[in-house]
Amino acid sequence: MGQLRRALLTPVSEIAWRLPGWPRRLLAEFSLAERGSMVDMLAAAQATPRREMRRKYFLHALDEGRHATIFADRVRALSPGRADRAEAVIEDAGLLQDHGIVGGQTLFERLGELDFLAFVYVAEADAVEQFGVYLDRNLPDAETSASLRAILKDEAFHVSYSRAECERYRKDGKPVDQAIRAVRWRRFKEGWMRFTRDFGEWTSGFWLLVLYFVAVGPFRVLARVETGGWKVVARPGAAGLAAARLEG
Ligand SMILES: [Fe+2]
Ligand SMILES: [Fe+2]
Repeated sequence: MGQLRRALLTPVSEIAWRLPGWPRRLLAEFSLAERGSMVDMLAAAQATPRREMRRKYFLHALDEGRHATIFADRVRALSPGRADRAEAVIEDAGLLQDHGIVGGQTLFERLGELDFLAFVYVAEADAVEQFGVYLDRNLPDAETSASLRAILKDEAFHVSYSRAECERYRKDGKPVDQAIRAVRWRRFKEGWMRFTRDFGEWTSGFWLLVLYFVAVGPFRVLARVETGGWKVVARPGAAGLAAARLEG
């Protein structure tokens, strides 16, 4: 998985960090994802029947909350005095509240502990790989890189503890590989759906623009603005009123 994913991540990252405004967008999305993870981990800490996991999930939640703040601070630093779309996303409490809660159930409740840990392991390993590509290729600015390096240490720890927990389940004869495959497949499907939605939005925007310029725009040359104000309407005479009564 690693080689193929890295081969795909590298060109996508190279483009994403160079497009104007995109670093802020990326960082805002990371901040939101970290806050979502924090909510997922807090819900797990509350719901797990395993006492020893409660502390681990809670500490994990604190890490993710701190990461969310670091990313949000970077967004603000890159757009001083501007409340743009990227910043609006990280301020959107509604998005955070809805994160991971489907049909009134948290991620932990939907998956159960084994699948949840498989999910944490895969998601954290992917994040480590993704941040590693950014740093190896020197894509973010110096301050963001320093923040990423600090975050990466925590993420590496999240990978190692979730992997150790998955190994524990494996020794107990639980279908860990099956759970990891299911998580990877679901993440691939979700990624594909996100891509198709974004592509659909971009395509519809493009064709609407073409339509405005090619079909709607030229009519503006021929059109003229109506004169405003009151219009005098001719009052019907007595004969007109009598005719209207007859029609009624
Ligand atoms: Fe994180
Ligand atoms: Fe993490």
